[in-house]
Amino acid sequence: MGAGSIGCYVGGCLLASGVPVHLVGRTRILHLLARHGLTLTDLSGTRRQVAAFRLRLHDAPPEGLAPALVLLCVKSGATAASMAQLALCLPAGTPVLSLQNGVSNAGIAQQHAPLLRVLPGMVPFNVAELPEGRFHRGTEGDLAAQDDLLLRPWLPHFQAAGLPLRLHADLRAVQWGKLLLNLNNPINALSGLPLRAQLLNRDFRHCTAALIEEALAVLKAAGIEPQRITPVAPRLLPTMLRLPTPVFRLLASRMLRIDAQARSSMADDLRLGRRTEIDALCGELCRLAQGLGRTAPLNARTATLIGTHTAGATLADGAALRRALGV
Ligand SMILES: NC(=O)c1ccc[n+]([C@@H]2O[C@H](COP(=O)([O-])OP(=O)(O)OC[C@H]3O[C@@H](n4cnc5c(N)ncnc54)[C@H](OP(=O)(O)O)[C@@H]3O)[C@@H](O)[C@H]2O)c1
Repeated sequence: MGAGSIGCYVGGCLLASGVPVHLVGRTRILHLLARHGLTLTDLSGTRRQVAAFRLRLHDAPPEGLAPALVLLCVKSGATAASMAQLALCLPAGTPVLSLQNGVSNAGIAQQHAPLLRVLPGMVPFNVAELPEGRFHRGTEGDLAAQDDLLLRPWLPHFQAAGLPLRLHADLRAVQWGKLLLNLNNPINALSGLPLRAQLLNRDFRHCTAALIEEALAVLKAAGIEPQRITPVAPRLLPTMLRLPTPVFRLLASRMLRIDAQARSSMADDLRLGRRTEIDALCGELCRLAQGLGRTAPLNARTATLIGTHTAGATLADGAALRRALGV
């Protein structure tokens, strides 16, 4: 549900490995897929192709289908509407795995389809849509989900699709760990640079470090221990990011295993004037802080910078963004 970057990549990998998959998406992508088929590539050079005639494409959830599992792959702003559509046509109890960023999407999804069984998941890697129905995975990592008996039978299928799925007793800690890393997304979007180039700029890293530091303080006050997603423990991320670039390049070599052209999808959203997921990232932290009688001013300021950015407007260089954020 939501055949975009994540939906086409994860759905496509399962399909390429023999799982029957239906893709529900918008006309623009469906036309591309119907014309070119689906091509899946990754940073290790793997290339898989699914011919157009093998794709089952829908512009809305098809009536009468009783899928064994639904992958919810829409952006946060589309969660409510897409779940309302699914609620109308899926049998009660159908498991829906949210592969979305943020920490609240699975809850919102469940609210809008109380009879379906929504499970939270997490995608650690980056996928970009490229021309002619190609979806490229630009970084590494295993899928994660809340441990649930409904997902256990799926583990061999995800493994066979080249997407190992790890089940966690407490996915919330994993989601918060991922949210901390995603705080680089607005900085990446405001920089206008590919992810790797932006991470190799110390001024931009200072901005991300400050957002993460503020977030860590809010999480600590809330008694939330974010799980480690990268080789670096969350509490060490700000220090690591602030290191001089030659030292950072050496110590963060794994973090920098990113295709030269990979960008955050927020960068694409900002460039194209589309709604971003800033509210599910910085906004979530601001709400958490507020609930504790605190503030998260840097995350609030970043959300405002993203929210007031006009598509096509000049983007900030690192020093200017540091000044704008006061870090
Ligand atoms: N891309 C990544 O690298 C990445 C990595 C990790 C996690 N994630 C998370 O995964 C989620 C999906 O991200 P994405 O990058 O895959 O987004 P995306 O490329 O925008 O894909 C979502 C697609 O779903 C479509 N859609 C929305 N509502 C729909 C509906 N009711 N019926 C059919 N199609 C619908 C969207 O169309 P419209 O644009 O018209 O709404 C869009 O084409 C987000 O929460 C994101 O944060 C992404």
